[in-house]
Amino acid sequence: MNTIKPIALHQSRGIDRIIEGVATSDGAGVKLTRVLTGKVHHRLDPFLMLDAFGSDNPDDYIAGFPDHPHRGFETITYMLSGRMRHRDNAGHEGLLKHGDVQWMTAGRGIIHSEIPEQKDGVMEGFQLWLNLPAKRKMAEPWYRDIASQEIPEYVTTENVTVRVIAGTSNGVAGAVTREDTEPMYLDIHLPAGASFSTALPVSNNAFIYVYRGAVRVGDTLVESHRMGILSNTMKADGVTLTATKDARLLLIAGKPLNEPIVQYGPFVMNTQDEIHQAMDDFRNGRFI
Ligand code: FE2
Repeated sequence: MNTIKPIALHQSRGIDRIIEGVATSDGAGVKLTRVLTGKVHHRLDPFLMLDAFGSDNPDDYIAGFPDHPHRGFETITYMLSGRMRHRDNAGHEGLLKHGDVQWMTAGRGIIHSEIPEQKDGVMEGFQLWLNLPAKRKMAEPWYRDIASQEIPEYVTTENVTVRVIAGTSNGVAGAVTREDTEPMYLDIHLPAGASFSTALPVSNNAFIYVYRGAVRVGDTLVESHRMGILSNTMKADGVTLTATKDARLLLIAGKPLNEPIVQYGPFVMNTQDEIHQAMDDFRNGRFI
């Protein structure tokens, strides 16, 4: 693996706002923390939701997410530990293990289940919902399982490890690229005291989610289990993070679609009529 010296930024973005996730449960009773909720849909366009799950108590996850539909966006599941079996009505099946990612484009509709394949131990990971532009909401469903070893990784001169799930960071292209929303999805591990910088397009919305330790962005400390929304400062050409203790975090950024967002549960469209159509199609078996 190459050692990379990260870009020297002209100016870093700061933190606009810190958000603590909301404890909730979903599927058949999976306990999770909803980090990104509908309240910041527009602020973080094109991202619709981020759930963090993590427990060593099987009662918190064992029932999983039985068959349920999605339409109009993409789901990105990143497993830190545990095993999750995925099956959908198009005949796809996959097993996500630690470090693996599943990128699913629900498009015009998919019905799938996500069920833990373990009876004990730790289950930890994230699911991010990324919106699709109006012109692609009814695209053919698509999915890809990305094994951990297929995710490009680099180490910096300050010994920061970066996994590039999507987008490009310090010249390293990630496993997935998307034209319309230009998502960047990094999993960054910093030893205490280390700093890390990466470029971000000025107009793209961005946030971090710290899942271990703590980092400083400018003068603001973002502690474990907190999301920090990054400011869209006109002169800032990226972000610099400094770990105040050993830290692990997600850095997620994307180009806003600036289109209306109408959500009803697992359907995210542009108009109320399209939501009614989605419900009608689902009820009448047209999600095939
Ligand atoms: Fe799902």
